[in-house]
Amino acid sequence: MLVTDGVITRVEPGLGTDGQVLNAAGMYVMPGAVDVHVHSRDPGFPEKEDFASLTEAAAAGGVTVVLDMPNTVPAVDSAGVLEAKAALAHSKARVDFGLWGLMRSSTTPDELEEMAAAGAVGFKAYLAYSFSLSRKQVLYAPGSEDPDLEPPADYGTLARLAPVVAHLGLPLAIHAEDPTVLAAFRRPLLTYQDLLESRPPEAEAVALSAAAAVAREAGAHLHVAHLSSALGLQAAEDAMAIGTTLTLETCPQFLLLSADDFDRVGPAMKMLPPIRTAADRAALVDGLQRGVISMVSTDHAPHTDEEKARPLEEAPSGSPGVQTLYLSCLQLAKDMGDVWLAPRWVSESPARLAGLENSKGAVAPGYDADIVVVDPRRKTRVAAHEMRSRQRHSAIEGKEFDFAIAQVYLRGEPVGQGSKAQGRMVRPALVVR
Ligand code: NCD
Ligand code: ZN
Repeated sequence: MLVTDGVITRVEPGLGTDGQVLNAAGMYVMPGAVDVHVHSRDPGFPEKEDFASLTEAAAAGGVTVVLDMPNTVPAVDSAGVLEAKAALAHSKARVDFGLWGLMRSSTTPDELEEMAAAGAVGFKAYLAYSFSLSRKQVLYAPGSEDPDLEPPADYGTLARLAPVVAHLGLPLAIHAEDPTVLAAFRRPLLTYQDLLESRPPEAEAVALSAAAAVAREAGAHLHVAHLSSALGLQAAEDAMAIGTTLTLETCPQFLLLSADDFDRVGPAMKMLPPIRTAADRAALVDGLQRGVISMVSTDHAPHTDEEKARPLEEAPSGSPGVQTLYLSCLQLAKDMGDVWLAPRWVSESPARLAGLENSKGAVAPGYDADIVVVDPRRKTRVAAHEMRSRQRHSAIEGKEFDFAIAQVYLRGEPVGQGSKAQGRMVRPALVVR
């Protein structure tokens, strides 16, 4: 392979021995992963994670682009905040990164256009999470009478702004939980069963169907974050069948675990939406195999080890995962009989979502030399204390994969200890329609 200025120019044998030579005999040479759903916590919660620790974990796991969610503090709800976050991230990033903008219930069309011009990869609406005006922070609660809490973006917000997003040619991502369904099932969380009953799959299906109707009418591309249920998948397939432009991501934790694992794992696997039943898990694996679910992202959402050690009710939701994305997907793909499905889920499809299909997502001439060399003769056992995230817990602790990440390159530079590789911000090619 010949790489010039970080870009692949030729992929063929016998190109000589100038430059770096890696003997990859018996290994897979795959494109770096594009994780479209991570939470860097930077700025906001450095005790949980920051851009340096996030991107070191990403690099170690073969993720060469991360798209960071906008619920950092201050939340990314304007071009000014986005530009400041981009500068901060650029000073620390070990892999390339893109930034999502936040769609609040009060967001204006101008704010979306300005965020797009500043390089947002798309917009995220949290349908069940309110916004603290004084703290400039997305809160994991639907709101109350408190005047400091702005209500979540709702279907009205989507109807008002989806035409603008469609015009900008960017994806509109949703956290698909309907707050009215959640309100009807609220209860104390003493057991994992309580958690499941408090976040029923109807919440996902209702939010997804309503948002899909709105997006279809506006001609917008709807992207559903962390799909977790069979019912949600059915709602998505129904919407696709009538012509909605809809992409689905699910996460390794939903494909590898089910509620039955809670007794063993504990609150490390508390996340929202929750890891559901074995039947949900099977439906998601099937959806991935059929290609209806086109990508796998992590929803890497670290909280501190101390926070996650609290009882179920108090433990915050979310868990780290970026470092185990590629390995998890290689294993799932191998179990389906074709390891090459993995780079489709973690690289090719996500690059397309991010508007990066001309530079990321393939090992081919003209593409950035973001490369993962995978060794199928070495196994990896997940041990969170050895990982690069600032946190030392994992929902899939102890899982064994039939692969190891042997080497990772970012635009031709090896990443890892002592490496010179430096992340850059990626921007979708803006096609204003
Ligand atoms: C995420 C977080 O902690 O930021 N938590 C989670 O349980 N998934 C928020 C989110 O992605 O909804
Ligand atoms: Zn979410």
